[in-house]
Amino acid sequence: MCARGVPIDAYPGVDRAGARLHRAPLNRIPEQERSMGFLRNAWYVACWSEDVQAGELFRRKLLDEDVVFYRKADGDPVALFNRCPHRFIPLHLGHLKGDTIECCYHGLQFDCTGRCIKNPHGDGRIPAAANVRSYPVVERHGIVWIWMGDREADAALIPDYSMLDAGSGFHTTKGAINIAANYILMGENLLDLSHVAYLHKGLLGSAQMLQTLPVVREENGALHVDRDMPNVDVPAVFNMLFRQDGKPVDAWQNMRWTAPGCYLLDAGVKAPGGEREVRGWYYGIHLVTPETSSTTHYHFASARPPGTAFDAATDEELARLRRIAFAEQDKPIVDAQQQVVGDQDLWAMKPALLAIDAGPVRMRRTIEGLIRAEREAAAGH
Ligand code: FES
Ligand SMILES: [Fe+2]
Repeated sequence: MCARGVPIDAYPGVDRAGARLHRAPLNRIPEQERSMGFLRNAWYVACWSEDVQAGELFRRKLLDEDVVFYRKADGDPVALFNRCPHRFIPLHLGHLKGDTIECCYHGLQFDCTGRCIKNPHGDGRIPAAANVRSYPVVERHGIVWIWMGDREADAALIPDYSMLDAGSGFHTTKGAINIAANYILMGENLLDLSHVAYLHKGLLGSAQMLQTLPVVREENGALHVDRDMPNVDVPAVFNMLFRQDGKPVDAWQNMRWTAPGCYLLDAGVKAPGGEREVRGWYYGIHLVTPETSSTTHYHFASARPPGTAFDAATDEELARLRRIAFAEQDKPIVDAQQQVVGDQDLWAMKPALLAIDAGPVRMRRTIEGLIRAEREAAAGH
């Protein structure tokens, strides 16, 4: 039993001690489901808002589909399948003409709904097949969100990252890297932050943190994995933000996951037995979107709370240290993991599970269930 919240053994495959796996149920996944594919009817982070500049075409592969983005004259973003239906030239090689894209090869023009509105040849007749798929996009919290499924997109389902909004009072930094691994492997890294005591030791974690097991619970459709870690050596990042005295602290890491790839970490330190102070904590925003089945767009940001003395140098240093952690410590490990796992089903590889895996196990099984339900719905079951 965990200290509070939902007991770890409430989750499938993890036994009462929270440390061993009942293998049989996990091996029942049929052969045809080994290659999971992607959940399509969900909001994904396509890019940061600033990636799509007025007057430019921005290309990005998402869920194995090539997508081209641009902004209409009113500033709203547009996303179209990046392939001309005539001779399949990528549309990002073409030209923006007002709110339309003109293909560079023979000049077909497409509006922001993907409808062909001009054939410059002969009588100008437009064949019925001369349309491009358009994707619902919403710009919110400085992020361009995309919906790649066929079901109606509901913007109310976009998770809250309002701490990134201009005017929120939070001090923010942003970054992005590409991970050469499946987005679920990267998500498992984020839902099991026990790794900070090894992979990010001294920077984001310290050895005494290993005493604390995660508490996993569900709330408002999101999965939460929380760790309260009393009286631990203060890691460098938090020492810089907090009192810079190197004294032990009480630390916490509370991670929220919204399927399929949106994570929000509330992390910080306080004086042992004390209360949370404005300095010493921040939100870590972690957003993973599949590029392909073996590569991931990883967007991250930090948001220090209102009332923190504004100090650009501290924000820059926080961003620098976090980037080191993600790009130089997490990425090589998760990339190496992908090299070993390849396209095998993880359960078929019979992983040894630990109590720290309660969150990742729950997340992976949730995504599997959502994909299965989506496929069954599409098949009319
Ligand atoms: S390939 Fe685009 S117009 Fe011909
Ligand atoms: Fe990490």
